[in-house]
Amino acid sequence: MSSVRLRVKPSTLTTVHGWDDTRAESGRAIKRKVMRHNVSDIESVIRDRRTLPPEQYSDRKVHRELVEQILTNATWAPNHGLTQPWRFTVFMEGSQLGMAAKMSELYQDQAGAQASEQTAQKLLARGTRSSVIIALGLDHDASGRFPEWEDRAALAAAVQNMYLTATAQGLGALWSTPSFISSKGMVDLLGWGEQVICAGIFYLGYPSGDWPQGHRKPLEYVTRWVSN
Ligand SMILES: Cc1cc2nc3c(=O)[nH]c(=O)nc-3n(C[C@H](O)[C@H](O)[C@H](O)COP(=O)(O)O)c2cc1C
Repeated sequence: MSSVRLRVKPSTLTTVHGWDDTRAESGRAIKRKVMRHNVSDIESVIRDRRTLPPEQYSDRKVHRELVEQILTNATWAPNHGLTQPWRFTVFMEGSQLGMAAKMSELYQDQAGAQASEQTAQKLLARGTRSSVIIALGLDHDASGRFPEWEDRAALAAAVQNMYLTATAQGLGALWSTPSFISSKGMVDLLGWGEQVICAGIFYLGYPSGDWPQGHRKPLEYVTRWVSN
């Protein structure tokens, strides 16, 4: 039995589901995977991700397994030197009510005479509107090798992972950064220790209405291509 030698240069002949059928000089077909995942899937989640405040959540409870999935994915974010600077405190199954009430008090204490009754009420009501409240902590080692902004950037990447996971789960999420989160009262409330900064509050809940649409500037407004 004779074998036919195909004299073709190595080239990409077909790409089906991320698999390249490349032929070597010998004509032997080599299957090489070029895409590790379906890009359109991840693109859909990235573009569908939206910020939804607790005022737009239903009464449906979020199960702990979903929160664990969200936080585990958060910890897979890039972080320089594997500092893993994120810390989380989860308030759910009732404890979010007390947390929201304390945050409303903190806001009023900090704003003093400037405090708005409407904002205080909104912060309080977010305890009943949201199913889960997660305090986001940044544990930066000031004596370490890396500047604080890099740990903050890592935490932001972790929050994006949280948002994306919540979107895939059909959950609304809001990363909120009111000014009182940097107060001493907040540090005491969370009991994280002096070196941990609160970088925000992450609210979670099932949406009560339609999923909102987003918009962004087209790429040409934010990109310059340089080539020789
Ligand atoms: C660092 C950071 C802080 C934010 N803080 C708040 C906040 O305090 N309150 C709020 O309503 N949204 C906050 N957001 C969410 C933005 O308002 C939201 O991402 C923006 O409006 C774009 O909408 P989208 O997330 O649906 O694309 C914050 C987002 C980031 C990245």
